[in-house]
This record gives sequence, C-alpha cells and structure tokens, in this order.
Amino acid sequence: MQNIHDSFGNNIAIIGAQWGDEGKGKLVDAVSDQFNLICRSGGGANAGHTIVVQGKKYIFKLLPSCLLRPKTIGVLGNGTVVDPVALITEMESLEASGLSVRGRVKVSLRAQLIFGYHKQIDEELENRKGKNKIGTTKRGIGPAYTDKVARIGIRCEDLLDKDQLVMKIRRNAALHADFYKIEIDAEAEIERIMAVRDQVKPFLIDTRKYLQEAIESGEKILFEGAQGHHLDVDHGTYPFVTSSSTSVGGVCTGLGVAPKHIHSVIAIVKAYTTRVGSGPFPVELDDANGKHLQDVGHEFGSVTGRPRRCGWLDAVVVKEAVEANGVDGINLTKLDVMSGLKELKIATHYHLDGNELFTVPTTAKALEKLEITYDTLPGWEEDITQVENFEDLPSKAQNYVFAVEKHCGARVFSIGVGPGRAALIYR
Ligand code: GDP
Ligand code: IMO
Ligand code: MG
Repeated sequence: MQNIHDSFGNNIAIIGAQWGDEGKGKLVDAVSDQFNLICRSGGGANAGHTIVVQGKKYIFKLLPSCLLRPKTIGVLGNGTVVDPVALITEMESLEASGLSVRGRVKVSLRAQLIFGYHKQIDEELENRKGKNKIGTTKRGIGPAYTDKVARIGIRCEDLLDKDQLVMKIRRNAALHADFYKIEIDAEAEIERIMAVRDQVKPFLIDTRKYLQEAIESGEKILFEGAQGHHLDVDHGTYPFVTSSSTSVGGVCTGLGVAPKHIHSVIAIVKAYTTRVGSGPFPVELDDANGKHLQDVGHEFGSVTGRPRRCGWLDAVVVKEAVEANGVDGINLTKLDVMSGLKELKIATHYHLDGNELFTVPTTAKALEKLEITYDTLPGWEEDITQVENFEDLPSKAQNYVFAVEKHCGARVFSIGVGPGRAALIYR
C-alpha cells in the first residue's frame, strides 16, 4: 500500500462529509498500520465503524478503529462521551476474537461518563417529541453532552474518587428525576459503575499531554472522525444532528491539539448519500434506484440495525463539508454499489425563490420549494469489485469520479470498491 504520509503529512484528520456511515472505519483500518496513534475527539458509542478483514466483520463503536493492527494505540479524547460499561463490553468482544487491546487504549481523564439515566432521558425526550423525534441511537449521547455544558457532568477523573463519584451520581440522578419526571434508580447506577470502575482506571491519563509528547517526538497521528459534517451540532441540519462537533474543529477542542499539528484533512464521501434517523434529506430517493442503493449497499445501521435512507450523491452537501473542513483529498467509498444503474445523478446546485443556496435548508416550507439541479451521467454494468487500478475502471466509472471532483471541489485520491481492507484503489 502507498505511504499516506507522502501525500498528506504526519498527522491526518479523517472526517465524514455527509450524514455519517460514509465508510470512515474502513479507511482508518486500511491506513492505521502507518500511524502510532489513532484518536477520537468526539461522540461515543453512537458511532458504528465497520471493518472487514479476510471476510470477518468487526464493528467499532466507542473504540478507535485501529485495534486490529497489533501495535497502534487508540485514544479517546476529552471531547468524547464514554459509557464505561459499553467500553468494557467492546473490549471483551475484541478479546474474544483473540486480540489484545487493554494495553493499547488511553482515555482522557476529562472525558464525560455516560450513565444509564442518560439513555433513559434520551429515550424519554424522543418519546415526548413524537413525530418530531430526531431518531437518535439512544446511547445517551445528547443527555451526556447536555450535562457537560450544564457543568454537572461526571468525568472519567471522578472514577478515581469513590466518595465523590457516589455523591455526584446521587445528585445528578435526583436532579434529572425531578426535571424530567422520570424514575431513576441511583443505587443501581452506582452498582453498575462500581462493577467496571477498576477495569477502566488503568486507561485514564492526561491525553492532551500524551499527544503533545507524541507530536514532539515525531510520532504519526490519525484523528478518526465519527458521524459526519452534516450531523455537527453547529454545522449540521439542526436539530436533526448529534450533540458534538463532528467537523475538524472538534479535533482541536476534543483532544487539545493545536490546529498547526493537523497536517491534512481527508473527507470520506460515499458515492451516493445515506442518512439514518430523521431530518432533511433533499436528494432522498423513494424508487427503484433508492432500493438498488439500499439492497446492494446493505444500507442498514451498524449500531441500531435501522434501514438507512438512500439518495443520489449531493455535491452541495459535500462541497459545504469540503470548504468548512479545508479538505485536502476525498476517499470515495462504495463506487461498486453504483454498478448496474442505468443513469446516475449528482445534485450540483440548490435554488430557493430564485436565489442559490449553499446549504441544506431546515424549514419544511423551504424544503418543499427547494429546486435541485442534477448532473446526469451514464451508468456502467461491469462489476468493479476486483479492479485494482483507476485506469482499469470502466470509462463511465472514471467519468463519475471526475464529476465528483468537479462538483465537490476536492481531489479523489482513493476509491472503495468493496468492504474488504484491500478493496481500495489509490490514484
Ligand atoms: P462509518 O461509520 O463511516 O465507518 O461507516 P459504516 O461502517 O457505518 O458503514 C459503511 C459500510 O459500508 C460498512 O458496512 C462497510 O463495510 C461498507 N463499505 C465501506 N467501504 C465500502 C466500499 O467501498 N464498498 C462496499 N461495497 N462497502 C463498503
Ligand atoms: P458513524 O460514526 C450515522 C445520527 C442518529 C440521529 C442523530 C442523533 O457510524 O458515522 P445521537 O444518538 O448521536 O444523539 O443521534 O445522529 N447518528 C449517526 N448516523 N452514523 C453515525 O455515526 C451516527 N451517529 C449518530 O441516527 O439521526
Ligand atoms: Mg457508521
């Protein structure tokens, strides 16, 4: 495999340019043997990063997608929300596959902890929103970040002081039970956390200083994005977003790494668009083409198993992510899924009342009136899953890649043609 540092430098951020599930995990795994550290800066077990090696499938939820490599170290930064039970469960499932992981995981003392009551609140808020629900993963993500910003969050460092921990759990359980009018069993929460506390403690360090020292000694660092730009709490299709900063800015705040140490940004772009959960999706398809994308692309959520909504590639959406994240190169995934479609479309422009829009509108009225311009391209029939060189792709597939570059505004440096680690074409 080519050396990724030749093109992109020592420290590289990988972000999703759409609504998540673009195939971030696959690229992270494919290149992670070229890095010392793989770091997550935000989100928690709402992520689902699928890796397929020699036909065996692994799904990384909270842990960085690098642990299949024998030496790389995975870091969870201060910006992440850590469900300690989910953390240990995920480690146990990797260990059951014969992998040794515990010595290779570092968790920030400042990361927020997720408790059972966060999941209860997540569910409760969704139920109360009724048809306006977000369609969250119900992993307690939003309520945990709410506690963080409200400055009542319980952090990993609190695991070190049992009395403080118990006091804070009882206090927060009472606060939330009162505010949301739900029943929370604080003693059960305490029991649950005490069962894993001693297992989690050895992972806890000052990850900012650890990364600073790694940077100073020239180690190579990959920042593994979770979710996607359009699920960002500021830049996404609010309120149908997650509760963290999923764009590249989140790397700096979520790990305490200065911007100058991020040498390049790679965007993962699926060759079409998917979205799981509710919220605006202008290019969504409800026809045979959409069904093709869902069936051939196996578009079902890796965390919740929900069917993902499917549509054509939306270059307005990707271009916004390219601009806002300063993207240096695109890894285009799942091009193989497009084989067999007669015609392919790429949304290139949005207009509303005669004015061009550069972002997805969020009101129902605007979405109804939104005019979308498409570039229509001829499809190809050939199976491309065994192709290894760009020049060996059918010319119509090559043309599709050129159109992606033109409309999205960044170079496509690699192309996924299958889920396996090796099914990647480098250009
Ligand atoms: P992530 O959350 O961005 O890591 O993406 P997910 O793992 O949730 O979803 C991507 C899915 O597509 C996974 O099932 C991957 O195994 C699969 N995948 C990734 N790249 C490719 C590709 O190039 N072709 C095909 N057919 N599948 C791919
Ligand atoms: P990866 O890292 C796709 C979506 C949920 C919901 C919204 C809020 O695998 O790309 P949350 O539980 O975070 O409060 O849910 O965000 N969502 C994702 N969609 N991929 C993900 O992660 C997602 N993480 C959250 O479906 O619409
Ligand atoms: Mg996913």
